[in-house]
Amino acid sequence: MVNILIVGGGNMGLIYALSIQQKIENATVSILENSTDKIAQLKANTTLNVFENPEECVSKADVILLAVKPQTALVLFESIKELVSNHQLIISIMAGMKVTTIESGLQVEKVVRAMPNLPSQVNEGVTGYLPYKNILTEELNLVKSILGATGAVVKVSEENAIDAITALSGSGPAYVFYFMEAMIQQGIDYGFSYEEAKSVVVNTFSGTAHLFKASSDDAQTWIDRVTSKGGTTHAAMETFKKNNVDTHVKESVVAAYNRAQELGKQ
Ligand SMILES: NC(=O)c1ccc[n+]([C@@H]2O[C@H](COP(=O)([O-])OP(=O)(O)OC[C@H]3O[C@@H](n4cnc5c(N)ncnc54)[C@H](OP(=O)(O)O)[C@@H]3O)[C@@H](O)[C@H]2O)c1
Repeated sequence: MVNILIVGGGNMGLIYALSIQQKIENATVSILENSTDKIAQLKANTTLNVFENPEECVSKADVILLAVKPQTALVLFESIKELVSNHQLIISIMAGMKVTTIESGLQVEKVVRAMPNLPSQVNEGVTGYLPYKNILTEELNLVKSILGATGAVVKVSEENAIDAITALSGSGPAYVFYFMEAMIQQGIDYGFSYEEAKSVVVNTFSGTAHLFKASSDDAQTWIDRVTSKGGTTHAAMETFKKNNVDTHVKESVVAAYNRAQELGKQ
């Protein structure tokens, strides 16, 4: 049995706790939470072990997954640093929190920094993770199954790549919502209701994503396949090109990456 403690039973912590409980058979999942309201909700609505006092659960954990907001992390570190030890695996999903900050804040050795994204809520997330030094192969497999409980995982080997993951998949859902919203609004301009336009657009995105995922062809091959010269898609693609939409998309991703780097320095 592996004893997994999630610290912070908010949006992300609860998603992880429930996904791990459902998918990893030999895991006991507990939550350490400090909000009285959330503790009551968690006790009423889940079968998770819920703790309010770090002394009752931190030292017993094999894996501690940190899911509090980064701005509350230093207070958390102070409250648990005497209870953690070097054999424990610490996984942090806190945005912008560097591995060395966690390592020195908790005085621990086995740290994994991870960056999940919003679709984790529906088990379709993607999580980039950076295992720091001192992580054994079997521990890496455990990390993969814990983070993989909410979707796909991508291992990276340096902290800059976590910033790139943040810019691509962490912030990425907002870019997709942005494109979908623009298409939905145009659908409404053509006379569809919001619900009708949403259904048309959302199914276009999810269908295309599934098709792409299942195929070995790259995106440009698919664009070429659906674009006949002088046709409707061609007219749209020419407008995208004239407006340099691809350059603007790349610039936006770079802006997110630069911001992630700035936040990491703070
Ligand atoms: N949401 C996303 O899509 C997303 C994506 C990638 C990464 N993340 C990261 O995930 C982390 C959690 O985000 P979230 O949206 O789940 O935050 P959240 O809903 O605010 O959850 C954090 C929970 O932790 C509790 N908490 C704070 N300090 C604690 C302590 N010392 N001991 C025990 N519990 C404590 C908070 O209680 P109080 O409310 O009483 O403070 C709150 O219930 C963040 O670091 C964020 O950067 C989120």
